[in-house]
Amino acid sequence: MIQLRDLKKNYLVQGKTIPALHGIDLKIEKGEIYGIIGHSGAGKSTLIRCINLLERPTSGEVIVDGVELTKLDDQKLQEQRRQVGMIFQHFNLLSSATVGDNVAFPLKLAKRPKAEIRKKVDELLKLVGLEAHRDKFPSQLSGGQKQRVGIARALANDPKVLLCDEATSALDPQTTNSILALLLDINRKLGLTIVLITHEMHVIRSICDRVGVIDGGRIVESGKVLEVFLKPKHPTTQEFVEQVADSTELREAVAHEKATGSRTIARVTFLGEQTYQPILFQTMQETGTVFSILQGTISRMKDTPYGQLVVELEGDEKQSMHAIETLRKRGLEVEVI
Ligand SMILES: Nc1ncnc2c1ncn2[C@@H]1O[C@H](COP(=O)(O)OP(=O)(O)OP(=O)(O)O)[C@@H](O)[C@H]1O
Ligand SMILES: [Mg+2]
Repeated sequence: MIQLRDLKKNYLVQGKTIPALHGIDLKIEKGEIYGIIGHSGAGKSTLIRCINLLERPTSGEVIVDGVELTKLDDQKLQEQRRQVGMIFQHFNLLSSATVGDNVAFPLKLAKRPKAEIRKKVDELLKLVGLEAHRDKFPSQLSGGQKQRVGIARALANDPKVLLCDEATSALDPQTTNSILALLLDINRKLGLTIVLITHEMHVIRSICDRVGVIDGGRIVESGKVLEVFLKPKHPTTQEFVEQVADSTELREAVAHEKATGSRTIARVTFLGEQTYQPILFQTMQETGTVFSILQGTISRMKDTPYGQLVVELEGDEKQSMHAIETLRKRGLEVEVI
C-alpha cells in the first residue's frame, strides 16, 4: 500500500543543510497497522509528513497505492491526497466551527453535494461516538472527544490510509486506550491501512502489527511487533521495550541474587496458548529442579497473550541447564540472565 524508497530529507536552515532522513526504505502492507517509534528529533514527523508530501522529500520515492507521488503535478497530487487522511497530536480543529462543520470541512472542499455531506457527517459522527455533540464547539470538548472529531474529519473522503502523528500524546492513559481501541475498530471495519508514530511502546504493543524503530533519521530495526518486542536487538529498541518492562525491581533482584549466590536466573517467555499452561511447573517437577519466581507478568500484544517469568533455579549448574533445555524443547523461549 505504501512504499518508501531511499527517502532522504534535508532541511535548509540559515544556509546550512541539516539532514533529517538518511535514506528510508519501508514497505507497509494494505490493511495493517504500522507503528514507527523513536525519540524526539529522530525524524518521525518528517517521515510521516513525507507520506502525503506535506513535506517534500529531498530525494527518493513515495508510492501510495501504486502511484508515485513526487512526480505528480499539483492537481493530481491534490486528488491523490484524498486517499490519505491524517490526525495530529494537537487535533488541529477549526475552533470557530462546530463539530459537524469540522467533519464536513473536507467534504465541502471536495465540493460534495449538501445532502451527501449531511449523510456522511451523520455516519462519521456515529462511527466515532459523537452523535450527541454535533453542534458543540471544540472548546466544549475533552481531549479524547477532540481527537474523535479529528478522526471523523480525516475519514471524510474515505481514505485508504490514515496517518497518525502522535495522536495520543496529549491524552491521559485511559483516553489514550479508548482512542487506540477506536483506531483498531476502524482498521478492522474499514480495512484502512494505518501508520502511526509515537514515542510510547505501550501504543505500539496495543494495536500495531509491525513496527519500525527510527533513530537519527534511520530505521534501525523493524519487524513484527511480537518479534521486535521479545528480542530487541538495537540499543534504542531495547530502551523502548524497557518502558513497558517494569525492570527496576528485576534489576535489583538479579543484582541481589548474583551477589549472594551462584544460582541460575532465567527469563522464560510464554506465547499464545502456552501462556495459560503449567509447562514451567511440570518441567521443574519432572527434572526435580527447585525454583522460585522473582518476577512475572502476563500481558497482551494486540491479540496475542504472552507471559514472562523471571525464575531463579536452585541446585547445581548441570541440573539447571537440563531443566532449561527441557523448557526450550517444549517451545518456550528461555534466556539465561
Ligand atoms: N521545518 C524544519 N526546519 C528545519 N529543521 C527541521 C524542521 N522540521 C524538523 N527539523 C529537524 O529535523 C529533525 C527531525 O525532526 P522531526 O520533527 O521529524 O522529529 P520527531 O521525531 O517528530 O520529533 P518529536 O518527537 O519531538 O516530534 C530534527 O533535528 C529537527 O530539528
Ligand atoms: Mg514529531
